[in-house]
Amino acid sequence: AERTLVLVKPDGVSRGLAGAILARVEGKGYQLAELKLLTATRELLEQHYAEHEGKPFYEPLVEFMLSGPVVAAVFQGERVIEGFRSLAGATDPTSAAPGTIRGDFGRDWGLKVQQNLVHGSDSPESAEREIAIWFPA
Ligand code: GTP
Ligand code: MG
Repeated sequence: AERTLVLVKPDGVSRGLAGAILARVEGKGYQLAELKLLTATRELLEQHYAEHEGKPFYEPLVEFMLSGPVVAAVFQGERVIEGFRSLAGATDPTSAAPGTIRGDFGRDWGLKVQQNLVHGSDSPESAEREIAIWFPA
C-alpha cells in the first residue's frame, strides 16, 4: 500500500494537539504503521528539508523544528499522500479551509515561519525518501 510520512510539528505537540491530529488521520481510515516522539537534530532536518535550502524561510523553519519534540508517524492506505494533504489543508493556516487540521487549529503567530502543525509527504518518491530519514531500518 502507499505510505506517507506525517509529522506533528513542535507547535502541535506543545499545544497538546498530537492525539487529536493522529485521531483525524486514523478516523479517515488510514492505518498507522510507525509512530514515535523525538526531538530532531539539525542533521536530520537538513536532510528532510534539503529541497528548501537557500529559501528565506529555511533557517527559521529548521530552528522552529528544533524547538521541541515532534511526533513522527507513517500512515498507509490507498492514495494516503493525497488524502493526508487534503486533511492537512493549505500551507498557510490563516487561509487553510475550516475542517482541515491547519484551518481548524492553526493561525499566524507573527513569526518568521509558518507554524502550521503538520508535515505530509508530497509524492511517493518524497514519502519513501522521508520515511528512510525518520525511520531508518
Ligand atoms: P509540509 O507538509 O510541511 O511540507 O508543508 P507544505 O508541503 O504545505 O509546504 P512546503 O513543503 O512548501 O514548505 C515546508 C514548510 O516550510 C511549510 O510547512 C512551512 O512551515 C514552511 N514554509 C513554506 N513556505 C513558506 C513561506 O512562504 N513562508 C514561510 N514563512 N514559511 C514557509
Ligand atoms: Mg512540503
